[in-house]
Amino acid sequence: MKVIEVKNAEELSMVAYEKIVDKINSKEEVTLGLATGGSPLGIYELFRINKPNTAHVTTVNLDEYVGLNENDQTSYHSYMKKQLFNHLSFKANYLPNGNTTNLNEACKAYEEIIRKNPVDLQLLGLGENGHIGFNEPGTSFTSSTHIVELTKSTRNANKIYFENEKDVPTYAVTMGIGSILKAKEIVIIAYGLKKAAAVKEMLIGQVSDGCPATALQNHPNVTVVVDEEAYTLC
Ligand code: GLP
Repeated sequence: MKVIEVKNAEELSMVAYEKIVDKINSKEEVTLGLATGGSPLGIYELFRINKPNTAHVTTVNLDEYVGLNENDQTSYHSYMKKQLFNHLSFKANYLPNGNTTNLNEACKAYEEIIRKNPVDLQLLGLGENGHIGFNEPGTSFTSSTHIVELTKSTRNANKIYFENEKDVPTYAVTMGIGSILKAKEIVIIAYGLKKAAAVKEMLIGQVSDGCPATALQNHPNVTVVVDEEAYTLC
């Protein structure tokens, strides 16, 4: 894994944004794998400011909560519209469907979307417990899109986005680790002291499903962009 250490979150966003735009400009048809959460917010802001041409770009997002209407303000559908999709025009935008009575069918359908749109560059955030997407510790490295029960730690980290802690959904649909590893290139971003332990484990820990991000050690083209704080334990 190639590591790029930067000073702070602002620099991190610029470095990652440049890498993504280079990829967008490199081909006639591009598929980007996108992430939600706090980490990519600065990158999406740069998209809104610079407005690169994305007419030839298809996006597939990592995950979505189960049981939230797409239009619910706290859904990842809403997050992506607010941050990116309402501001730039894309070829197509896909997110998993977490609001259906047949979640297994929805997982299969999403895996088919990923198969038809092989990801050129996958952007990832890193959970404090080493999760990628919503793949919690213990998830198989060969997993495809599936339903997960969120851990206490993940629900706790995400409660800031909800009015009440009890509103944080208990389940989510996520691309599997196997689905994520199919991407031709992966850029994972992490900033702040809260991520330092997970960054260390991801980079130099033993490859094990106890830390999902260690699966990235087996991928041939991963760039880790971290700020000084997130890199302190390495
Ligand atoms: C969340 C999301 C992930 C995200 C990660 C880190 O639970 N499901 O896609 O990358 O955890 O989140 P943040 O960037 O807010 O720290």
